[in-house]
Amino acid sequence: MNRLFKKTLSLMLVIVMTVSLGVSAAAADQTGDAQAEGPLGLVSAMSVELNALVEATKISKTEEIAGNTFYEGVLNGVDVVLVKAGIGKVLAVASGKGGVGKSTVTANLALTLRNMGYRVGILDADIYGPSMPTMFGVEGYQPAGDEEEEGTPRIYPALSMGVKVMSIGFFINPKDALIWRGPMATNALRQLTHQTDWGELDFLLIDMPPGTGDIHLSLMQDLKISGAIIVSTPQKIALADVRRGIGMFRAKQINIPVLGIVENMAWFTPAELPANRYYIFGKGGAQELARSENIPLLAEIPLIQSVREAADAGTPVATQESTSAAFYTGLAKNLVTELEKTGH
Ligand SMILES: Nc1ncnc2c1ncn2[C@@H]1O[C@H](COP(=O)(O)OP(=O)(O)OP(=O)(O)O)[C@@H](O)[C@H]1O
Ligand SMILES: [Mg+2]
Repeated sequence: MNRLFKKTLSLMLVIVMTVSLGVSAAAADQTGDAQAEGPLGLVSAMSVELNALVEATKISKTEEIAGNTFYEGVLNGVDVVLVKAGIGKVLAVASGKGGVGKSTVTANLALTLRNMGYRVGILDADIYGPSMPTMFGVEGYQPAGDEEEEGTPRIYPALSMGVKVMSIGFFINPKDALIWRGPMATNALRQLTHQTDWGELDFLLIDMPPGTGDIHLSLMQDLKISGAIIVSTPQKIALADVRRGIGMFRAKQINIPVLGIVENMAWFTPAELPANRYYIFGKGGAQELARSENIPLLAEIPLIQSVREAADAGTPVATQESTSAAFYTGLAKNLVTELEKTGH
């Protein structure tokens, strides 16, 4: 009896969480302002039911994590965790390897999802070299705080090109980045994950730091990540590190589904020889990795000068109509299809 009840309950929670992903894509307004508006009709209806459940539960603990509220307690004698989802999906963009294009993929994927109508936020968790302030042209943004509210103080992300951006870079002086490693960085990140007021989002993308260390573990525990997108270049020397990165998500204690691999810098085509492909970093290494690890290959993105230039200029290529932007559209569509197919 109890088990059946638990099952029904978890089904309801899944519905509450996924409805916000499915419906809002079609209906979300394209303007940044609209993101602040309340949830859509269907979500509100589900929320009423959830509120009733929360009310009937003997709550022992309430926690705000990245815009979602988690209630732990006992309902009709059963231990339950109720989740009021302010955010549909929290996705980590990661790689065991540095410099393979995680941040570039994160920025362009976020903007593409936004163009498709989703409400999107980015948490730039790269304490070693936060890139989002530059890529979104919001360097020097000082997050406004809300000290007046009861409970935990809130901080507000920057809004750029319709995407909400919070970066550890807003708090670190680049010259101090080195001393931010270890517990200090972990604490600062924990504060960001717990105190940022995202409002309603369909996707929160996390730009993860390179490597597989303590910071990653605490981020993964703190953020309740729904899935990981792995970025790799094709070359052999990257693949061993990337395999370790995949292993981190799949470790028994972590158990975060790896949604797919993006092969970045897959080839180079010079403008004067448009039919030619030069495999500068080797050919198909990440494809092969995807096959051997049984993970979908979500996209192959070539090395394109304008991708680098546009990111450096604070207007990533996904903001323009171009053949380069089309690679990220393909990635976003494959990602959404994968999420729908697997239900992650
Ligand atoms: N497809 C691409 N074509 C051309 N340049 C690219 C492409 N992807 C990324 N770059 C460039 O490669 C460099 C590294 O990319 P990026 O900073 O996104 O990597 P990263 O994995 O986030 O690095 P880190 O591990 O340091 O955080 C940047 O200068 C970026 O502009
Ligand atoms: Mg980066």
